[in-house]
This record gives sequence, C-alpha cells and structure tokens, in this order.
Amino acid sequence: MKIAIIGGLGFIGTNLYKYLKEKKLNVKILDNFKVKINYKYFNKRDIIYCDTRNLSLLKKKLISFDIIINLAGQTGVLESDKRPNYCISQNIVGFSNILNIVRRNKKKVKIINASTGGAIYGDNINASREDSHKFPISYYGLTKKFNEEISNVFFKLYKVETVNLRFSNVYGEYSVHKKSFIHNCIKNILLNKKILIFGDGKQTRDFIYVQDLVKLIYKSFKLKHGSYNIASGESFSVNQILNIMKNIDVNLKYAYAKKNPTEVKDVKINNAKIKKFLKIKSSFFTPLNKGIYKTLEWYRKFT
Ligand SMILES: NC(=O)c1ccc[n+]([C@@H]2O[C@H](COP(=O)([O-])OP(=O)(O)OC[C@H]3O[C@@H](n4cnc5c(N)ncnc54)[C@H](O)[C@@H]3O)[C@@H](O)[C@H]2O)c1
Repeated sequence: MKIAIIGGLGFIGTNLYKYLKEKKLNVKILDNFKVKINYKYFNKRDIIYCDTRNLSLLKKKLISFDIIINLAGQTGVLESDKRPNYCISQNIVGFSNILNIVRRNKKKVKIINASTGGAIYGDNINASREDSHKFPISYYGLTKKFNEEISNVFFKLYKVETVNLRFSNVYGEYSVHKKSFIHNCIKNILLNKKILIFGDGKQTRDFIYVQDLVKLIYKSFKLKHGSYNIASGESFSVNQILNIMKNIDVNLKYAYAKKNPTEVKDVKINNAKIKKFLKIKSSFFTPLNKGIYKTLEWYRKFT
C-alpha cells in the first residue's frame, strides 16, 4: 500500500508521518514547503515538492498511490477572512485538482480529506452530529463545506471515494508554527509572556490530542465514502483551559480582548459515529490535562 500525505510537512502531517513510518508503511510527503519548520524530522527521500494548485505537476507526482491523505491548504479561520481569495484557491482549487486526478486514475484510490468539525457547523450549541445543520460563518468553514459537497458529487458520478474527516481543535507536538489557543498558551508560558483571550473565555471547544488523531486517521483508511466527526466528544471552555495551564505555571499571565465575529462561540461535537465505525471507546481519548502536559514536555525538550 502506497500512501501520499499532501501537506505532510505541517503539524498534523509530521505526527502522521512519524506514526505511519513506525508502522513500516510506504509513505511519501507532497508539500509546497509553505511550512518548513518540521523539515528536519523527515527522511529527505520521502519528500516531494508539489503544490496542489499546479494541476500538471500534481498529476505527475500523484501517480501510483493507493491512499491520498489531503492535509494541504489554508488552515485558519482568522487568516481566511483576511485573505479570502487565497483561502478559496488553496482549499477549493487544490482539492478539486486532487479529485479530478483520482477520477481519471486507472487504479482505485481512496482519498482521506481533512475537513473541520470546529468551523463547519457554525454556532451550534447542541452537540453536532454529522447530519446536523451546517452554517459556517467563515471562509475557512465554507471552503471545507464546499469540498465535502464536491466530493459527494464525485462519488455519485464517478465513484471516487473520499472519507471526509471533520477534525475538532487539534493540539500536540510539532506545532511550533501554529497559532491555536493551546499552542499559544504553551509558547507564552515558556516565554513568560501574556496570553490574549479573544472574548470572555466562556467559548467552548472540543480538543483532540494529535497522537489520538493520527491513530484515527490510520484507522479511517478502512472507512467508506462519507463524513465523520473526529473529536474527543468533550468540550472545555477557554477559561477551563486557563485553569489547567495555571496548574502548570501559577504565574500564567493573560488578558481579555475583543471577540472575533467569524469565530464560533461554542463547539460541541458528537463522536458516536466514529466510535461505532472504528470500534473505539471514550477511554481511547487522551484526557486534556495529560495531553497538554505531554505537549508542554515536548516544547521544553525540542524548542
Ligand atoms: N490543526 C487543527 O486544529 C485542525 C483542525 C481542523 C482541521 N484541520 C485541517 O487539517 C489539515 C492540516 O492542518 P495542520 O494544522 O497540520 O496545518 P499546517 O499548516 O501545519 O499544515 C499544512 C501543510 O500544507 C502545506 N501546504 C499548504 N498549501 C499547500 C498547497 N497548495 N500545496 C501543497 N502543500 C500545501 C503546508 O506547507 C503545510 O505543510 C488542514 O486541512 C486543516 O484545515 C486542522
């Protein structure tokens, strides 16, 4: 089985690459080197330069893979609203190119596509199931929704199978370039700097530890075409996370700032489908405080 991770040099890709290599799988990275910080953790022979927006190059490079994991693209809500056209071209054009290449491929290929659980449902105070109403309020969320829908069209018309994985908020090792809340907190603790909280801190998120996520991505190779929430199923408020952080560093400094309108207030994701299909229990998920400690240990050692 030959596996391609497109966007594999990034945060999730680096963790996934290491996990699949431990399993002695044949895995290659295709990336446009926009993120380079984790380059040193790879066997250079496994890395292929490629940009998903370059159809002819992508076509040449994507030959012969059985599983294509798409992690490439523009990855943040705030950035997507500052640069909407960039977000659209990175996420939609890139993914559409992958679909069109696989459609014309002679052998059967499965696509595993990174979607979002945090941004696709919009402000939904009830636990979102895969079939819940989707009303994204950011360009980022909208591009992910579009990609899932176009993948359904390709499945219906051409039998191209895509497993859309709606990740919740991911945290963990190899994330120095990321600006998400837990990573920012850890970096600021280590630099003795003040953390800025957007809003009143009562907003909730479902956090998944990256080491749990990569195991689930691997297990998802056997899933059938469709969309699946990938989340711990437990939501924490930003203020609760601050309390966990205070146990790590009592001198933690933070201040509240104005909420960004395109960020959803609450994320509560139902993970029953994935637990059923992949036969996992709630105990599979690393408790948040344990995952944060492990991540911090990694930052202390390697940054
Ligand atoms: N990190 C999270 O909390 C989270 C949550 C939900 C969904 N996701 C999704 O998971 C995927 C991976 O996220 P991440 O946090 O690892 O992001 P990341 O920014 O760390 O990694 C993205 C990688 O894609 C590469 N890339 C960007 N544009 C490219 C292009 N056009 N062609 C080829 N390579 C390109 C970058 O160089 C980088 O290595 C993204 O699709 C993201 O939207 C992430």
